[in-house]
Amino acid sequence: MQTRVTRLFDDLADFWTEIYSAPGVAAGIYRRRLEMALAWVDSLALTPGAPVLVVGAGAGFEAIALASKGFAVTAVEPAAAMLAVARTRAESAGCTDIAWVRGDAHALGFGPGTFDLVMALGVIPWLHSPSLAMAEMGRVLRPGGWWLGSVDNRYRLDGLLDPARNPVIAPKARAVRDALMRKRSGSEPKAAQHSSNALRRLLDCAGADRIAEVTFGFGPFTFAGRPFLGDRAGKAVNTALTRLGERGAPVARSTGAQRVALARKREVGVWDI
Ligand SMILES: C[S@@+](CC[C@H](N)C(=O)[O-])C[C@H]1O[C@@H](n2cnc3c(N)ncnc32)[C@H](O)[C@@H]1O
Repeated sequence: MQTRVTRLFDDLADFWTEIYSAPGVAAGIYRRRLEMALAWVDSLALTPGAPVLVVGAGAGFEAIALASKGFAVTAVEPAAAMLAVARTRAESAGCTDIAWVRGDAHALGFGPGTFDLVMALGVIPWLHSPSLAMAEMGRVLRPGGWWLGSVDNRYRLDGLLDPARNPVIAPKARAVRDALMRKRSGSEPKAAQHSSNALRRLLDCAGADRIAEVTFGFGPFTFAGRPFLGDRAGKAVNTALTRLGERGAPVARSTGAQRVALARKREVGVWDI
């Protein structure tokens, strides 16, 4: 499974380099995810030079931003092509101190309590054993340290409205179709989606308590898997629903595409010694 995921991201290195400056709703949602995560990091007031770990570093956007803020960044990424792009981008940005590690979230080669912050944006959906990886991320965090990451929302509005993607209807329809066609479901790895409760259980594996959680990002809307809103209309719908969500409007506040959470690793109590 991991080999297929790594191969997929090796092939997607260009996509993940360009997506942050691309037009379209999806790109806007990724930009917002990164901006929100970095704003949350600012709110933590970590000490300058604090050790931080980026897991699933992709093309290096979070790692470079965190290094530019003065943190001592280590970045883990299994896909060699991604790692190469990230290194080159970091060098061009003058961030030569980032420690790039080819590795896997399920087995992080760092000692317990090494980092003040672990950031994992867009990675959990691709993990074959997310609870194991979360336990690893929790292990390398110091007690009282921060975990900041995202999952794809299982109850995202664009998925609920499309019968081909709805989490209740789609798997049954696919099973019937596959049985009729006598084939097993596709071998291309697919991103998993998580509910708020599922994310809380994962945070528990890391020994961390959720401090904040938001969903945001609406679209790209599809029907039967095909886009049906143009770019302009899609952006307008995304902006309107995002505003409603920020004001706490029912439905909009919990059905964004991305679910981003900040959590804090529990301090060690006397009962743990
Ligand atoms: C959707 S991309 C997100 C990249 C980056 N964090 C961002 O937000 O721009 C997911 C990344 O997770 C990486 N990844 C996949 N499996 C992983 C694993 N087991 N451990 C660590 N990273 C993994 C992929 O190679 C890919 O670079």
